[in-house]
Formats: sequence, C-alpha cells, structure tokens
Amino acid sequence: MKRILGVGIATLDIINRVEVYPPEDGEVRALDQRLSRGGNCTNTLVVLSQLGYACDWAGHLADDDASAWVRADLEQRGIRWLGSEPIANGRLPTSYVTLSERTGSRTIVHYRDLPEYGGDCFAGLDLSAYDWVHFEGRNVPELARMMARVRDVLPQAGVSLEIEKPREGLVDLASMADVVLFSRGFAQSKGYAEPASFLKAMAQSFPGQALYCAWGERGAGASEAIGGYCWCDAVPPASIVDTLGAGDVFNAAVIDARLRGEELRTGLHHACDLAARKCARLGLDDLLN
Ligand code: ADP
Ligand code: FRU
Repeated sequence: MKRILGVGIATLDIINRVEVYPPEDGEVRALDQRLSRGGNCTNTLVVLSQLGYACDWAGHLADDDASAWVRADLEQRGIRWLGSEPIANGRLPTSYVTLSERTGSRTIVHYRDLPEYGGDCFAGLDLSAYDWVHFEGRNVPELARMMARVRDVLPQAGVSLEIEKPREGLVDLASMADVVLFSRGFAQSKGYAEPASFLKAMAQSFPGQALYCAWGERGAGASEAIGGYCWCDAVPPASIVDTLGAGDVFNAAVIDARLRGEELRTGLHHACDLAARKCARLGLDDLLN
C-alpha cells in the first residue's frame, strides 16, 4: 500500500444550512446544523484513505475537546496523527460555515489562534516510508524549510503543493513541487478571469511542474510540459447537496491519479468526477459508493 503524508491544518467546522443567506445585521434561523472535522489537508487525506492509501497527518492539535474529537475521527479513519503533544491552552482552528440553499454558496468565518506547524516539528519526522508528501500552502518560510527537507531526504517521492490563498512568497515554492494545485480564488487574485490564461502564465514560470486549477461549478484546467493544456467541464452531480470541501476532494483525486501514473487529461477527469460525487452528498464519507 502506498503511503502519503499530508502537512497542513485540521479544523472544527460548524456548519449552518440556511434557506437564504442573511443580510448584515439581520437574523435567520438555520434549517439544520452539523459539526464536522475539516481543514483542507485532513479532508484531502480522508479522501486518499478511501482511495486505498495509508495516510499520515503532520499538523498541530490543541488540548481542547474539539481537538480530541478530531483526533478520534482521524484515528477511526486510519489516519495517523504524527504530532506528539497537543498545544497547551490552545483552541483548534474553527470555521463557521453558512451554506445557502438558495445559491449553493458557502460563506466562511475562520477563527484561527493555534500556532502554525513548522520546520522544527517536521525535522523530527521519519520520512523514509512515504511515496508522496502533500503540503497545504500556508506559513511560507516554514513551508520552504519543510519542502526542502523532503526534496533532500526523499528525492524519489512525489510532492504536491496546494496554493489556495494569495500569500507573500507562496507561489515561488511551486518550483519545489511536482504538482501544484491552484484555486480559482488565487487565479482571480492575480487578475485572471479564467483558468487557461492563468495556467499558461504559470507554466512560463514553472515549466517542470504539473499545474491544476479547479474552477468550481465550471470544471477545472490543467497543464504540463508533456500534456499541454487541457480542460474538463464539471461533471453534473445528481443533485447539489454540499460543495464544502469539493476542492479538497479534487486535490486528493489528482494525487491519486499522479500516483497511478495516469495521463493529464484522464487524471483531470477523474478529479472532476470525484469532486462531483462529493457535491451530491453531505460530507466526505463513502465517496466511492
Ligand atoms: P473549493 O471547494 O476549494 O472552493 P472548487 O469550488 O473550485 O473548490 O471545486 C473543486 C471542483 O469540484 C471543481 O473543479 C469541480 O470539478 C467540482 N465542483 C465544484 N462545484 C461543483 C458543482 N456545482 N457542480 C459540479 N462540480 C462541481
Ligand atoms: C473546506 C475546508 C473546511 C475548512 C476550510 C478551511 O475546503 O477545508 O473544512 O473549514 O476549508 O479553509
């Protein structure tokens, strides 16, 4: 079984479903509420474990109840937490999510008060067993150290980097990855209104990388030196139930496709297909059924 390490955050997601998103200073009653373990990196690992990989997570937990709950949830899915000590008097990152039935939008307020995971903790990990290491793009200087260590001690492993938010210096780290997973929001923050021209521009700077850019309900684009540029329309889900985490599922499917050696277009289709399955159900469980 291939082994994957993910480096990033876990969150507690408090998700309210509402009929219509409220105006500022307004109020609205939720149709329902659920709590979920979230976070881009752990979401991606949860999907990869369903796809048959042995997954480990490197990130911080606090000593609060939410962290204990998240830890148990990951354990139950066979995902090992590589941290040793929860951070004392900390609070797990919490995301307050409002899902609007009317538009399908998900509005998120992030509460973040836990130190970012970094190179000192990462230096203590034995990396020898990994076939792939996936990094969430945050905490840029520390990320650079961690990626450099992987390249140094594990030259044969695949490395992916998720670039979701515009953060100072983050895009420069793409050159240390094999696969770069951009978000629509990142492309838009650079002034691009569609993925083809964005990926073409990125390919100038990163000709050796496979580049992907998910574009929500429209689909996704990808580009690499050998495969050129390709586009895949979104696969229409049977019904749209919950799009929260669709991008994390997309990323997991891309990593899976790369590990199986699929060519660019086939892998992109696989990613859009799995992400659409996700949109048709609540949460991330049983995506393959
Ligand atoms: P995120 O969840 O990070 O905001 P996106 O919204 O870009 O990420 O979605 C990731 C992928 O999920 C898209 O490339 C697409 O394949 C799929 N997807 C998202 N929304 C829909 C939708 N409404 N219908 C079909 N597929 C969707
Ligand atoms: C979904 C998600 C949520 C989390 C938020 C973090 O992609 O990972 O689970 O709260 O994004 O940005």
